[in-house]
Amino acid sequence: MAKHLLEVKDLRTSFFTPEGEVKSVDGVSYYVEEGEAIAIVGESGCGKSVTQMSVMQLVQCPPGKILSGEVLFDGQNLLEYKSDSKEMRSIRGSGISMIFQEPMTSLNPVLTVGAQLCDIIITHNPGMKKDEAWAKGVQALKDVGIPEAEARMKNYPFEMSGGMRQRVMIAAAIVCGSKLIIADEPTTALDVTTQAQVMDLLLELVEKHGKSLVIITHNLGLVTRYASRVYVMYAGRIVESGTTEQILTNPQHPYTKGLLNSVPKLESNKDEDLVPIQGMPPILSNLPKYCAFLPRCPYATDKCRESDKPMLKDTGNTHFSACYLTEGQNG
Ligand SMILES: Nc1ncnc2c1ncn2[C@@H]1O[C@H](COP(=O)(O)OP(=O)(O)O)[C@@H](O)[C@H]1O
Ligand SMILES: [Mg+2]
Repeated sequence: MAKHLLEVKDLRTSFFTPEGEVKSVDGVSYYVEEGEAIAIVGESGCGKSVTQMSVMQLVQCPPGKILSGEVLFDGQNLLEYKSDSKEMRSIRGSGISMIFQEPMTSLNPVLTVGAQLCDIIITHNPGMKKDEAWAKGVQALKDVGIPEAEARMKNYPFEMSGGMRQRVMIAAAIVCGSKLIIADEPTTALDVTTQAQVMDLLLELVEKHGKSLVIITHNLGLVTRYASRVYVMYAGRIVESGTTEQILTNPQHPYTKGLLNSVPKLESNKDEDLVPIQGMPPILSNLPKYCAFLPRCPYATDKCRESDKPMLKDTGNTHFSACYLTEGQNG
């Protein structure tokens, strides 16, 4: 079995607000193997970003607080380090790279792309001459398919399109040597063609450069080609996990079924009836004791109404579902 590069165990992160405790991450566990791409999927507001910000220790505190759990990266528990510690800064600089929906949040608006890439390259290769770092930067831009890379090095981020900026972020992830890339809705702001190009580039990071990738998305359609395994998240918890094939062809949790019915299928060209999931995602400050999906679930029974939240259980072949209806069904 390949080594787990990242293993998150029972992570809990809350925000303490005047409205009460917002349980954004409520006991989340997942892992990523070396050289693997996984996806974390769920509607907006279910805790995907806060989970990843907790891994990176970038949750704003207060009002946020990581309450418990472990984040094992390359053998170290990152939660033992303070957010502003030398160790965490080194992890963020050269261990784990994060790519956000809007790359302007990570790029410095007043420095050229070339200056920023050279900074990263020299940090990772102390003593390297400026012109050598520049040449490496140009090569990195070529690697991510940016035309006229030499000229582009002299551009400021605002002089580039969103898709181009996202390519620069991927180039930065290549040159900083990080082993894990967390891409949080990396293509949500891009048009469909650019979306596919950026996703293909991210996949190249895995296939050509041997990196590991966590793709965060609300779009289950996106995982088909890009992830080997999928975690489905709802109201701060993982409610289903399995291989991409298991999730797409044999979904167990009613929420996953709902998500699948609400996205167009890649393989089918004919008009299909897309059925949105009824109701709204819950507010995470006032969650019931029972299953958080119950108010939207078409299959809910008395048992669901009377019981605590269902735990993730293996339904067979390490395909997990947190639902009383699927418990022990196949396993
Ligand atoms: N700074 C904050 N203060 C209070 N609540 C927050 C804050 N940031 C995030 N949250 C809450 O955490 C929940 C999860 O947010 P997030 O992880 O960003 O969702 P997702 O990425 O899945 O769309 C949201 O419902 C939101 O209300
Ligand atoms: Mg998010």
